[in-house]
Amino acid sequence: MQALERVSREGPHQYAVTWGAPNFRAALARKQSRFMQLPLDPDENIVVTCGSTEAMMVSMMTACNPGDKVIVFSPFYENYAADAILCGAVPIHVELRPPDFSFDPDELRRAFEQGAKALVLCNPSNPSGKAFTREELLVIAGLAEEFDAFVLTDEVYEHIVYEPNHHTYFASLPGMFERTLSCSSLSKTYSMTGWRLGYVIASPTIINEARKVHDFLTVGAAAPLQEAAVTALELPDSYYAELRTLYAEKRDFFLNYLDRAGLRYSKPEGAYYVMVDISEFGWKDDISFCEWMAREVGVAAVPGSSFFHEPVNHLIRLHFAKTSETLAAAGERLLKLREKLTHRG
Ligand SMILES: Cc1ncc(COP(=O)(O)O)c(C=O)c1O
Repeated sequence: MQALERVSREGPHQYAVTWGAPNFRAALARKQSRFMQLPLDPDENIVVTCGSTEAMMVSMMTACNPGDKVIVFSPFYENYAADAILCGAVPIHVELRPPDFSFDPDELRRAFEQGAKALVLCNPSNPSGKAFTREELLVIAGLAEEFDAFVLTDEVYEHIVYEPNHHTYFASLPGMFERTLSCSSLSKTYSMTGWRLGYVIASPTIINEARKVHDFLTVGAAAPLQEAAVTALELPDSYYAELRTLYAEKRDFFLNYLDRAGLRYSKPEGAYYVMVDISEFGWKDDISFCEWMAREVGVAAVPGSSFFHEPVNHLIRLHFAKTSETLAAAGERLLKLREKLTHRG
């Protein structure tokens, strides 16, 4: 905040270089080279965007022409469907099967065989909380190589992964840097979603094309905010360890309430969402369940069906990126869920 105060007085207040202010790119390259274990060049490998939301759009438009097919795992973060529509790409969905959200390598191969130009990989995943293992990523990498496809990653939760899981950057796998457009942002890592600062990291050839798409989509991310955010990018590694610990505590605190409420859920490996299975309540659909729960229990959830391509309606998504007080209040209310369901008859 002090950095933002200083920038408000001293500037910059005009456009930055469209693909990102040099000092922001330099700080980002230093930080991401360290975590991704890749020697990133701020002038060759980075486009700064308005959040990962724009980064994903830029990536899809860079990789795909209208009519191209894109593999999207289901359930998926809802923006990917919109991205595909906006750039005229045709999604091919591959199931991530609850409760562990694993995929069938044969189904994935069949999707590639349909001529997919790219695959969207959200890792760690919203809404499922899945953190893909290195072995799973190697299966995807092998198919991407075999079928000469791009991989568009959304790694906004790269620093929110729970032990014993850990984050593997897809671009860091052997041979994958050349075909990966790695998207992420400062939104979740530094709890600054409103600043709209994100980026695409890729090879110089890809970045050269991505810069053009980005230039015509938004011109650039806000110059004063890039300047102020350099401070965040220069935080020491202990910051990221503390962030992980903070969210691990929130997760455990909230899951403890779900356990006490006797709810079935998939334990999140990363991100800050938890999918709860409501099939035992015999409700005919998740939307009316969520409406009832918001009204009668006082806890809001997102119907799982909004994330699935398939007709899945026995899951709801809760999230725990909240203060302990709010989580405790929600938890106490969830403890009364069964009783309220019984009274409902
Ligand atoms: C998977 C995923 N990607 C992207 C975003 C949005 O990121 P940004 O704020 O960087 O645009 C979200 C926000 O919830 C998300 O869950």
